[in-house]
Amino acid sequence: MDKYDNLYDYLSREDVAELGRSYLEGIFAGDGHEKRVEEYALSIFDALSPSQKVLRNLLSAAARLHDIGHSIDERKHDLHTRTLLKQEQSLKVLPKHLFKSLMVIAGGHRKKIPEELRELPEEYQEDILKLMGILRVADAIDIGRDPALKIVHCHLNHKGSRLSIEFNRNVPIFVIERVAKKGELFETTFGLTLYITP
Ligand SMILES: [Fe+2]
Repeated sequence: MDKYDNLYDYLSREDVAELGRSYLEGIFAGDGHEKRVEEYALSIFDALSPSQKVLRNLLSAAARLHDIGHSIDERKHDLHTRTLLKQEQSLKVLPKHLFKSLMVIAGGHRKKIPEELRELPEEYQEDILKLMGILRVADAIDIGRDPALKIVHCHLNHKGSRLSIEFNRNVPIFVIERVAKKGELFETTFGLTLYITP
């Protein structure tokens, strides 16, 4: 049962991907980063909450848009992402809570948790923090911008205390370190430890 609106009922998946591309053209090489972050994020999501389609779609859109703030400045680009999303006319079709959820997740992918989180209904806040936690991990996995790095399997241990992420190739140590650093919110909100299968 879904308590949220479905973002892709208001905008198509391609519209959102195109919106992300439009901000980042000439800044990032193509949309590879957002696409990979989306794929990593959804793989992790599917291992944990596979039936919640609307949350999955919200995460997908946030992944596609999380870095648009780079079009203003790399420094504080999370803050710039929030500013741009608030100004973006094409997102005005989204219901208020859905828009705010998107803005908080995308704009919360670095260190700070946007204060607008507290403006959302309390029963949404935990879900939003979880999606933000997944997005941070997915973004960290792509620190090396390696298009060949794929998640092949995410496995929750039988106790439900550890999520192992298995890749198709050896994961460089700097990626593992980045994930460990950026995985704190994920581990806290899900009550899980993250483990990367080398
Ligand atoms: Fe990113």
